[in-house]
Amino acid sequence: MTTIGELSRQHTQLSKEQTTHLVNLVSEWGMLADLCFADLLLYVPVEGDNWMVLAQVRAATGQTLYLADWVGSTTSADEQPLLGQAFSSGVPIEGEIFVQGVVEDCRMMAIPVKYEGEVIAVLTREWSRRTGRQPGELERTYLEMFDKFAAMIVKGTFPFAGRVADSSVAPRVGDGAIVLDADSRVRYASPNATSALHRVGISANAVGQTLAELGVIDSSVRQAFERFEPVVEEFEQTADVTLLTRCIPIVDIVDEESTVLGAVMLLRDVSELRRRDRLILSKDATIREIHHRVKNNLQTISSLLRLQARRLESPEAKAAVAESVRRIRTIALVHETLSREPGDDVAFIEIVRPLLRLVEESLQSPDRPVRFVVIGDGGRLPATVVTPLSVVLTELLQNAVDHGFPEGDGGGNVVVELDVSDTELRVSVIDDGRGIPDGFKLADATGLGLSIVRTLVTTELAGSIEMRPAVATELAAVDLVPRDRNTGTVVTLRLPLEHD
Ligand SMILES: Nc1ncnc2c1ncn2[C@@H]1O[C@H](COP(=O)(O)OP(=O)(O)O)[C@@H](O)[C@H]1O
Ligand SMILES: [Mg+2]
Repeated sequence: MTTIGELSRQHTQLSKEQTTHLVNLVSEWGMLADLCFADLLLYVPVEGDNWMVLAQVRAATGQTLYLADWVGSTTSADEQPLLGQAFSSGVPIEGEIFVQGVVEDCRMMAIPVKYEGEVIAVLTREWSRRTGRQPGELERTYLEMFDKFAAMIVKGTFPFAGRVADSSVAPRVGDGAIVLDADSRVRYASPNATSALHRVGISANAVGQTLAELGVIDSSVRQAFERFEPVVEEFEQTADVTLLTRCIPIVDIVDEESTVLGAVMLLRDVSELRRRDRLILSKDATIREIHHRVKNNLQTISSLLRLQARRLESPEAKAAVAESVRRIRTIALVHETLSREPGDDVAFIEIVRPLLRLVEESLQSPDRPVRFVVIGDGGRLPATVVTPLSVVLTELLQNAVDHGFPEGDGGGNVVVELDVSDTELRVSVIDDGRGIPDGFKLADATGLGLSIVRTLVTTELAGSIEMRPAVATELAAVDLVPRDRNTGTVVTLRLPLEHD
C-alpha cells in the first residue's frame, strides 16, 4: 500500500509538517465523506503541470462515482481546471466534470486545503446528481455541516492540529449523529441517534434541549467546547448501555480569537462490543484459574507419593515412585506456566528452564555432577503440545542422567538443543555419557521411560524419534569434548507444527 507520506516524499515539495496536516485531514475525512454523501479525493500539484491523487475515500452514506482506486495516479491541469482555480484563488469552486463511464451531470467541488496561511492541496467532493439521495432534513443538515467543515479546511482550522488518527471503533456518521448549536443545544438528531437515545430511555424530542437536560452524559461536549478540539468519550449511560461518543466542534477564528459555532456529536452504542470484551476477559481469567487449581492438585498428589516413598524399603520401589513424582511435577510445572499466560500457548523455553532445574534438583548427587545447558529457542507452542512434550523431555533427561552417568562414574554434560522452523520443532537431548548399550534398538526397548516417550511422540505429537550414539563432531558442535571412555548419546525428536 502506498501511503500519503511516501507519495508526498517522492512526488511533491511538501514539508514534513504540511504532509502531517494532510495525513491528519485524511484520518478525519471518513466523517466528511459521510456528511456530504460523496467521494472525496485529495489532490496535490506535481511536476509537469499535473495533479496527483494522494488519497481517496468513499462515503458510507452514498453511492460512489469511482469503482477504481485513483491513489497515486495523475491528471493534467487542463483536464481538471477547477483544481488549479481553487488552488490559486484559495476559495472553493464548484463545477461540471466529466467522469468516464458516467453519462452526465457529474460535479466537483474543489476545496483548497490551507496550512499556516498557504494552500498546500485541494480536497474535492465528486458526485453525480443522478444518483444523489432524495433531499430531506437529514441531507440538508449533513450538507450544511459539511460546508462548515469545508470552511474550516479553507481557513486551516480543520483538521485539528496534533490529533491522533481515529481508532477503528470510533463512531461514524451512520452510527448516529447529533448536531449541536453554539449553546450546545440539539439542533438535529439523526434517526440512528434518536434510536440510541430511546434505548437509554430518552424518548422526549431532543431538539432544542441540551444533552444535560436530556440526561445524557455531556462532558465530551463541554470539553470539546472548552478546548476547541474533538473529544472522545465512552460511558455507561445505563447499566446495560455503553455509549461511545465523539464530539467535533465547529470552530471559527474571529480577530484571532477562537469561537465555537456548534458541534457534531457522533455516537455509537458499543454495549454489545463491551459485553463481549468483558466475557473474553473473564473467560481468560477462568482458564488461568483452572490451570492454577490443576497445578495445586498435582502438587498434592506428588507430595502424597513422596510420603509413600519414604515408607518403602526396596530401593527399586523407591526409585519407581520417585520417577512418578518427577512426571507429575513436570505436568504441574506446565500448568503453572499456563496459569500465568494470557493465552493458550506458551514460550517453550519458559518450561524447559524450570524443567531442567527440576531434574537437576532431584537427580543431582555429589559423586556425579551433571551440567545442564539449553541452546536455542522453541518458539511458542500450544498447551496441547507443551504438556506431552514436557513429559517426554523429562524422561529423556532422566535417562541421560541415569544411564549416561551411572553413580560413581564422575558425571558429565547434558545439552538440550531447540530449533524451530515454520513447519517443524526439533528437540535434541545430547549427553557425553557412556553411550547406549551395543545392539540397542529403540523399537525393541521395553523400559517404561522410552515406552512413554514413543507413545506420546508418535500419537499425541505425531512426530518421530531417533536415538543413536553421538559422533565427535556433533558433540563439538554443542561445545562438548568427546571422551575416550565413551561416545555419548543423541536423542532427536521432530515434531510437525500446525499453523492456523
Ligand atoms: N542417554 C542414554 N544413554 C545410555 N543409555 C540410554 C540412554 N537413554 C536410554 N538408554 C537405554 O535405554 C534403556 C531404556 O530406557 P527407559 O525406557 O527409560 O527405561 P529405564 O530408564 O527405566 O531403564 C535404558 O535402560 C538404557 O539402557
Ligand atoms: Mg528411563
